Amino acid sequence: MKAVAVHTFGSPDGMQVIDTSTPTPPAGHLLIQTEAIGVGGVDAVIRRGTVSGSGFGPGYVPGSEVAGIVTKTGEGVDRIWVGRRVWAFTGVGGGYAEHAIASVGNVVALPEGLSTVDAVALGSAAPVAHFALAQARFTAGESVLVRGASGSIGIAAVELASRGGAGSVTVTASSASRGERLRGYGATHVLDRDGNGEGPGLFDVIIDIVAGSALPRFIERLAPNGRMVLVGVVAGYPPSDFGMTLLGAFQKSLTLSTFSLDTVPAADRDRTRIELFDAAVRGDIHAVVQDVLPLDRAADAHRRMDEGTVFGRLVLRP
Ligand SMILES: NC(=O)c1ccc[n+]([C@@H]2O[C@H](COP(=O)([O-])OP(=O)(O)OC[C@H]3O[C@@H](n4cnc5c(N)ncnc54)[C@H](OP(=O)(O)O)[C@@H]3O)[C@@H](O)[C@H]2O)c1
Repeated sequence: MKAVAVHTFGSPDGMQVIDTSTPTPPAGHLLIQTEAIGVGGVDAVIRRGTVSGSGFGPGYVPGSEVAGIVTKTGEGVDRIWVGRRVWAFTGVGGGYAEHAIASVGNVVALPEGLSTVDAVALGSAAPVAHFALAQARFTAGESVLVRGASGSIGIAAVELASRGGAGSVTVTASSASRGERLRGYGATHVLDRDGNGEGPGLFDVIIDIVAGSALPRFIERLAPNGRMVLVGVVAGYPPSDFGMTLLGAFQKSLTLSTFSLDTVPAADRDRTRIELFDAAVRGDIHAVVQDVLPLDRAADAHRRMDEGTVFGRLVLRP
């Protein structure tokens, strides 16, 4: 089968199309013939070599999110899965391929009416946004800021906060045109990446996908009893003393927490993922796919990720 592997970590030029044998699903796993492969921010982080000390070596096949048809089951997996259209989380890699393996606990059947392309734009991102808002104890009427809203997690957070009756939904974006697009998903105010622009001064809830050196400035924008949930670090880690900002605002009773989908019980995660897929079929939330590229153009997809021109998601098709 055809796959894309990283031979040299660093630039996207180090990615190559390879011919490799189709894997056999081990016990508890399924083999999926991929139709759509999500290009995740984490794929780019690993390919850049930022986390090369974490066991990723030459020949590593990126990709953690695919959708397609189940063609084989491993020992202990009900053969009823064969032929089903599914979304799957493949773990830390293996997705950029014509066939991918996933454990049966990381697969959900797709509802009719949801394309495989839309599934890989929403399958991880929408549950992250949903549970991050829940962790923030978001309630109707509150002011919400989504920092780094132009990606698939951020857009889902904007739509879910808006549909949940937020009093206002402010976003950060790197250009006015990206901000305008976010207004189409429910944003009421647009700030630049530094937080400048017209909008509420303080926020009840901040969903932060960015972190980085500006994080303390955004902690200062929490209202009394405000809650910030960190779900990503697209701008890297914050300054090591960022906790001082929290302590400096002691009288405001703030909450700062991290959120990872990994800690959500599997049954809750799957139920919510299915509900969100159904919401997409109804048109209540939207998969935002910037482009669908052939699998052998994975390096081009990564170049676009590095340029910062992606709005929503890029998807590969084998
Ligand atoms: N918590 C979880 O369970 C979970 C699950 C999956 C992924 N993640 C994490 O979520 C992140 C990826 O999410 P995503 O795919 O939605 O994000 P993304 O598309 O990679 O980035 C979101 C937006 O952030 C803005 N941005 C990028 N670099 C920035 C910078 N240096 N400063 C300020 N803003 C910047 C960009 O918008 P503008 O150009 O418009 O500003 C970008 O479109 C990764 O950190 C990943 O590890 C977390």
